[in-house]
Amino acid sequence: MLQTNVKKIIIGCDHGGYELKLEVIKHLTENGIDVVDVGTNSTASCNYPDYAHALCKKIQDGEAPCGILICGTGIGMSMTANKHRGIRAALCGDTFSAEKTRQHNNANVLCMGARVIGPGLALDIVDAFLNATFEGGRHETRIAMLEQWMDQ
Ligand code: RB5
Repeated sequence: MLQTNVKKIIIGCDHGGYELKLEVIKHLTENGIDVVDVGTNSTASCNYPDYAHALCKKIQDGEAPCGILICGTGIGMSMTANKHRGIRAALCGDTFSAEKTRQHNNANVLCMGARVIGPGLALDIVDAFLNATFEGGRHETRIAMLEQWMDQ
């Protein structure tokens, strides 16, 4: 069950994630969340970095606090997203990790693999991710250390 104070989400996918993305968008909109979709818009073959870059730019610009990226494995999307300053992308295939990555890593992008997990689990992962909030404290220090590395 989705009980989050997140009001707006950016979402993106490649051809491998397109069908699951539609289910996630339906779930989010049914729960009153404003969704901005950066594509792709079909199952025609495309390149996942295009959509990961577009989504990360919007989050960096402050258009929404977080995003969801879906490809076949979720790996390409997470690798690409984590190249961006201020983006903390977490590839999740279980609800425990999805909750903890928000609480401990302050993840702002959830990545999922549509060829790895089914839609039921994917929606539970989305809920776990969005329902959780960052705990701060000692985790703040670690995230600062992580971000500093980008500036060297
Ligand atoms: C596309 O075939 C596939 O490589 C892509 O969706 C993703 O799994 C890459 O990481």
